[in-house]
Formats: sequence, C-alpha cells, structure tokens
Amino acid sequence: MFMNDETFFCTINVFIFVLQNVINTFTQTAKHSRCSFYGNVNVGKDVTIGELQQAYHAVILSYGAEGNRRVGVPGEDLRGVYSAKDFVGWYNGLPSCRELSPDLSCETAVILGQGNVALDVARILLSPLDALKKTDITQPALEALAESQVRKVLIVGRRGPMQIACTIKELREMVNLPGTRPEMVAADFEGVPEALKDLPRPRKRLTELLMKTAMEVPGDKELERRKNATKIWGFRFYRSPTEIFADPSHSRTASIRLAVNRLEGSGERAQAVLTGEVEDVSCGLVISSIGYKSLPIDPSVPFDSRRAIVPNSVGRVHQAAGLYCSGWLKTGPTGVIATTMNNSFDTARSLLEDVDSGTLDISTGKPGSQIVSMLLEERGVKPVTFSDWEKIDSLEMRKGEACGKPREKLLTVEEMLKVART
Ligand SMILES: NC(=O)c1ccc[n+]([C@@H]2O[C@H](COP(=O)([O-])OP(=O)(O)OC[C@H]3O[C@@H](n4cnc5c(N)ncnc54)[C@H](OP(=O)(O)O)[C@@H]3O)[C@@H](O)[C@H]2O)c1
Ligand SMILES: *[C@@H]1O[C@H](CO)[C@@H](O)[C@H](O)[C@H]1NC(C)=O
Ligand SMILES: *[C@@H]1O[C@H](CO)[C@@H](O)[C@H](O)[C@H]1NC(C)=O
Repeated sequence: MFMNDETFFCTINVFIFVLQNVINTFTQTAKHSRCSFYGNVNVGKDVTIGELQQAYHAVILSYGAEGNRRVGVPGEDLRGVYSAKDFVGWYNGLPSCRELSPDLSCETAVILGQGNVALDVARILLSPLDALKKTDITQPALEALAESQVRKVLIVGRRGPMQIACTIKELREMVNLPGTRPEMVAADFEGVPEALKDLPRPRKRLTELLMKTAMEVPGDKELERRKNATKIWGFRFYRSPTEIFADPSHSRTASIRLAVNRLEGSGERAQAVLTGEVEDVSCGLVISSIGYKSLPIDPSVPFDSRRAIVPNSVGRVHQAAGLYCSGWLKTGPTGVIATTMNNSFDTARSLLEDVDSGTLDISTGKPGSQIVSMLLEERGVKPVTFSDWEKIDSLEMRKGEACGKPREKLLTVEEMLKVART
C-alpha cells in the first residue's frame, strides 16, 4: 500500500465516530500479512508507476484530490484569502499547511461555496472553544481561534437555496451550534415554499430545514437560545465573487465584490446567470471552498485535465492494462465516506473480474514489494512501515490524553520520522 498525505476533513466529534470504523478497517488491512505498507514514499518521484507495474500485476491509484479549484478573481492572493483546502489542512495539522497562520483579527468572514467543507470551516470559525478543545484540532489552531475576532460568517453560493450543496446532517449541526444564531435574507427564499412539494425527498428535507431556520418564527426555547447568541452565521444566495479588495493601508483583505445572479432553469441543473448588478461586502477573511481537484501523479498515467480525474471505466484506467483507480481520483471530489467506500468496492470488483476473465494477465510471477524496497534503498528513500506509523499514532494519542483530546498531532514530517525510527 502506498500512501500520500491523508487528508481527513473534519475534527468535529461526531465525525470522529464515523472515521473510527474506517480507521479500524484500514488498520486490519494494513496489518495483513500479505500487505506491505510503505509510508513516506512519494509516488511519481521516489518510484515511478512503471516500476510499480513491473513489481505488481495490478496497481490501483487512490491518492485522492490534493489540489483545489481556484476562484480565479483579482485579489485571490491577498493576505486574508485562503483556500478551504489549506485552512482545513492547517487546523487538522497537515505539515504542508503548518505555516498558514490565518489572520483571524476581523469581525466578518466570507466563505465561498455551500458544500459540507464550507460548513466544516464555518463551524470551526464559530464553535465555542470548549467544544473544540475536546477534538483533535491542533494546539496552534486552538490558540489562534481563542484570539479570533470573527463574529459573523457568511456562506455564499452562486445559485439558490434549492441548489445548496451541503447535506442535512451537516446543516443541522450548523443550525444547532451553541452560541450562534442564523441571519438570512428573506428575498433569497422567494418561490421556495411553492416549489417545495415537487422536490425529491432528500432535497425536500434539506430545503425544509433551511426554510425553517431562515423564515419561521422560532419557539420560546429557540428564541431564548438565539437571544443568547454572540455569533452570527448565514447563507447568501445568488452571488458570485468578482473581486477581492485590500485595505489601502495594510494590503490585507477589506471587502469582496459579489455579482448578483438569477437562475436559468430549475432543479439541480439550474444555471447562475449574471444580472449585471453587484454588491460589496466588508470582510477581513475570505475562504474559498468551491471544491477539490485531483492532480496528475506520473506522466505515464492518462489524466483528463478538464475533469481532473484519471479517465476510467468502473475503475479500469483507459489505455493502461493493469492500472486501476478509485476514490475521488476516479469520480471527482464528490460524495461522503460511504459513497467513496462503494466506489472502491466497485474498483476491486473490476479487478477481480479481470483476473477471472484473463484480461489481467497473472500467469507470470512478479517480484512484488521486494524489488520496490530495493529501488527505494538505492535511492536513499527510507519508507515508514505500518508499525513505524503505529509509534507515531500512539505517541499522538498519549500526548492528546494528557490534555483531554483524542490526539495531539505531530506537526512536522521531521518529528514524525524521528518518532517512527526510535
Ligand atoms: N461531513 C461530511 O460528510 C463531509 C465533510 C466534508 C466534505 N464532505 C464531502 O466532500 C465532498 C466535497 O465537498 P466540497 O464542499 O468541497 O464540495 P461540494 O459539495 O461539491 O460543494 C462545492 C460548492 O462550491 C460551489 N462552487 C463550485 N464552483 C464554483 C464557482 N466557480 N463559483 C462559485 N461557487 C462554486 C458549488 O456550487 P454549485 O452547486 O453551484 O456548483 C458548491 O456550493 C462533498 O461530496 C461533501 O459532501 C463530506
Ligand atoms: C441563556 O443565557 C443565560 C445566562 O447566561 C443562561 O442561564 C441560559 O441557560 C441560556 N439559555 C439558553 C437557551 O442557552
Ligand atoms: C453503498 O452501497 C450500499 C449497498 O449497495 C447501499 O445500500 C448504500 O446506499 C450505498 N451508499 C451510498 C452512499 O452510495
């Protein structure tokens, strides 16, 4: 098994329970006597796909979506503008995002995009510190969030309430976040009540929760809760970013210009069309969360740059016998963990079918991990084995236990390697 950096999305407690199952299954597989785990190996650099194919009958690419889609507007590189990918990487302790140190000294944050990642980011920005302290969020992130001045988070989408990309469970967590209250714009919901009855069921339930949150007069208990709230969140619909402006004296973010859209067509496929109107929103922080994107790993592997996936049929890479793919690299960056699991089972099934049908030739022996080990040694690459990784894991858990967290992550590759090799 070859691993690149693993990017887990979320540090909120509920999510950790879901991940626990995934972690257990992963551990069982990694410890299997017929599985060799090679960490700290950069495929495409330390070893090529061609070399892996010489060592194994089949190679499955499952390295996810490490890149992010850029908004592509002027001002995107200003201080105070971050991609959700980097921001999530920062609070989750990804070594490559350690230096991000986002500036949280403003009152209003704008998040571009309305998917589950956008909601993760909004919740991290608005969560009471006490709740975050019990998650595996990194210590530097906790310290930065303790000093944060952010009081209001606007989650901006280019289309309408009936096209929102998040799912109901995540929206419910946002709605129930202690210390916060929603603030929406009534005009954004025009026509929604009338359209509700024709929506497919999951979309209908999601829209109902959204309507209830935005429009209904709350009951006494909820009213009391909202009165207590010190922080505000809200969706803004029918808005596309066109430019981010700096504060003239500081070269940091001061506002964002949003073009007002209308919808052409209806349902999931409705398109946002510019009306020509614009509006400016003051904000010191902009986080773009408009989706992830897979990157090519090795020039010998076919890659569809437009869709940012490896072209495949049910996981069989086109024009590349013995090469398979799964996960977001195969489908693009959509779906929850269960979707991705199903998608990987399908790839495994394709591979087994190819073995049965003889499409995948396994009649001659292949050297397997031995030859890979040799190549890596020749190149001075020292892989991390699974038991090495378990040392890192148990140290992180022990460090976490000391401060009441499930884990305290090591934040640099050097530290991790040092622990792995003791
Ligand atoms: N808790 C969880 O289960 C969890 C947590 C995190 C992520 N995930 C999953 O991971 C996947 C990725 O999440 P994600 O939030 O990154 O992606 P996503 O669900 O695809 O949402 C992307 C958002 O960005 C918007 N967008 C895309 N291109 C845009 C553009 N050029 N201008 C303006 N807006 C644009 C989309 O609007 P349009 O609809 O108009 O394109 C949408 O609102 C999702 O399937 C998500 O459910 C799950
Ligand atoms: C609102 O705040 C008051 C005083 O801090 C507290 O006693 C009460 O329980 C809070 N109510 C809700 C619904 O959170
Ligand atoms: C995954 O597959 C199972 C079994 O076919 C199905 O019941 C489940 O709904 C699927 N989950 C997702 C999220 O696609």
